[in-house]
Amino acid sequence: MKKSIPFLELAAMHADLADELQSKFAHMLQKGVFSGGDEIAELERSLAVYLKSRHAIACSNGTDALELALRALEIGPGDEVIVPALTWVSTAEVVKMVGAEIVFCDVDSNGLINIDQMESMITKRTKAVIPVHLYGKMVNMDRLLSITKPKGIKVVEDAAQALGAFKQGKSAGAFGDIGCFSFYPTKNLGALGEAGLLITADDFLDRKLRLLLTHGQPERDVHELIGRNSRIDTLQAGFLNVKLDYFLPWQQKRKLLAGIYLEHLQHIRGISMPKGILKEDHNAHLFTIKLEERDKLKGYLFDRGIGTAIHYPLPVPATPVFSDNGDFPIANKIASTTLSLPLHPYLGEREVRLVCEGIQGFFRS
Ligand SMILES: Cc1ncc(COP(=O)(O)O)c(C=O)c1O
Repeated sequence: MKKSIPFLELAAMHADLADELQSKFAHMLQKGVFSGGDEIAELERSLAVYLKSRHAIACSNGTDALELALRALEIGPGDEVIVPALTWVSTAEVVKMVGAEIVFCDVDSNGLINIDQMESMITKRTKAVIPVHLYGKMVNMDRLLSITKPKGIKVVEDAAQALGAFKQGKSAGAFGDIGCFSFYPTKNLGALGEAGLLITADDFLDRKLRLLLTHGQPERDVHELIGRNSRIDTLQAGFLNVKLDYFLPWQQKRKLLAGIYLEHLQHIRGISMPKGILKEDHNAHLFTIKLEERDKLKGYLFDRGIGTAIHYPLPVPATPVFSDNGDFPIANKIASTTLSLPLHPYLGEREVRLVCEGIQGFFRS
């Protein structure tokens, strides 16, 4: 029987790191610090250095990071927040969670917020925009900020998928007022559970975010504002400290594999390739192709043991809970034609070639 190629293999990745992760766990168990502590401080320090950010604030997950960011910027009832129509649902959910109104905007052919359309949607009530660096490809932040800044509109970057993407040395998430990252297990740097991060260059926002994520407490039994518990789990911080040492080689491996996909697939008529995936401003989180016969190809590969995924089958406004009747032709088109191929650091070059052969076979059949 032929070996199957799953879309992701989280167990394989952690098998390799098992000794280190287990000894980290044993150390933390012995130490007995399960909330707060040095592991979190170390993670924040390392990520602040890597992202070249004045502040890095670890938290419970990427969704909470986004919601905390909106709360810190005092966005709430009566305010409008512009959100791209194609994203993971969290980006839109958090706007509702703070009581503000979502204004969905269509995307460009890369799945990123359409900046011209965003500009035309700005009203007196527009308080913030949440650009999403979807699939790990960065939005043109200079252009976006040239529109939002003069109008005093806040920018929260959803960089949940974009750790490792930089534009001229500046990280995704470092352009706006606050940048939000996720360490969900499938991300390029994934925890062994849930975790997230906020970055900001602003001292006031740093303090406020830190207060919000731990009951408004600057110190024990003092509550300066109404907050909540969105602290990172200390164990996850410890595991992330172990995994962070491997992040750069993993990124190189992703780029190498993405290059093999491009070499074998870019000449096939009828498929379009992810633009700029080998560039610095793309972290190769997902290798997304687009083709009319997406569902057929997905089935064809599945029958041959090759796993794929769809990011995302429905634009957020089309999902029943949001049911927004706006017109989002590009988001709809991407949702019906996009297919994500296996791409992770524990995938072999040979396996990538086999996926390519599968796709070539589909086009010959
Ligand atoms: C674009 C985007 N935004 C937000 C999130 C939310 O992150 P989390 O799952 O850590 O809450 C994710 C990841 O799942 C995401 O991909």
